[in-house]
Amino acid sequence: MLIAHISDFHILDPGEIFSGRVDTAAGLRRAIDAINHHTPRPDLVIATGDLVNDATPGQYDQLRSLLSGLIPPALFVAGNHDERRACASLGFGHPSADDRSGDSTHDGRVRILEAMDADQHAFVAEVDSLIVVGLDTTIPGRHDGQLGERQLAWLDSVLSNLAGRDVLIMQHHPPFSTGLEQMDAMGLTDAQAEDTVLERHRNVVGVLCGHLHRFITSPIGNTVAICAPSTGAQLALEIGDGHPAYTDETPAMLLHLMRPGQRLVTHVQPIPVPESWLPHWAV
Ligand SMILES: [Fe+2]
Ligand SMILES: [Fe+2]
Repeated sequence: MLIAHISDFHILDPGEIFSGRVDTAAGLRRAIDAINHHTPRPDLVIATGDLVNDATPGQYDQLRSLLSGLIPPALFVAGNHDERRACASLGFGHPSADDRSGDSTHDGRVRILEAMDADQHAFVAEVDSLIVVGLDTTIPGRHDGQLGERQLAWLDSVLSNLAGRDVLIMQHHPPFSTGLEQMDAMGLTDAQAEDTVLERHRNVVGVLCGHLHRFITSPIGNTVAICAPSTGAQLALEIGDGHPAYTDETPAMLLHLMRPGQRLVTHVQPIPVPESWLPHWAV
């Protein structure tokens, strides 16, 4: 199974440009094109939050319009720039308000087994033999994230019930400190508690994240956490307390390869842009 992992689209209203420089809609269009035309075509798309920039209805309309061109089924979680109910209504095989209790399908390959409740957009999906657990790290009105004791207890019980099955977790805020201190200040406040839960289980093959606008990876529990780059603007590598700034690094998607009896393998696939852009300080 091949999984395309894309993140942090930061879609704006039609015609608007991110930071006055990056056409994020064009970035997502290029990512969708790369996924649709990749050989072999990915079986599933995982999108790890910050799908839009300001959570307005118009931005979600624009996002839906762009996603209509995506061929494989997709699963979404919310980021700190999203509105969780809007993310939960995107469809494509994850639990919307209408199908929380039933089987939700997109071309018959994605089945929703369980949704946590109406307050948090967390779910368990089955895609072929793979289980994907989507977690909700968002705190309304804030940029840092939290899973909370209730969601962590739910995750613990879900993983126990799925012992022996391969489970991929997807969430926006990564469950580790990255060394980019200003970004860590808006990180996952209960990352240590998630690590403790994941230490108790052997069936999590990876924890897929976003939020950092860079490819970053770190061990957690008995598995590995992996942040995907943005399909729009990448953050500079500011290890220490440097101010987060966008760079003109090339957008990318991650391709996670899962084969029977093998561990998860992750490839970084750049998505070249026709014209690069320069940050303010370089102009
Ligand atoms: Fe983001
Ligand atoms: Fe974020």
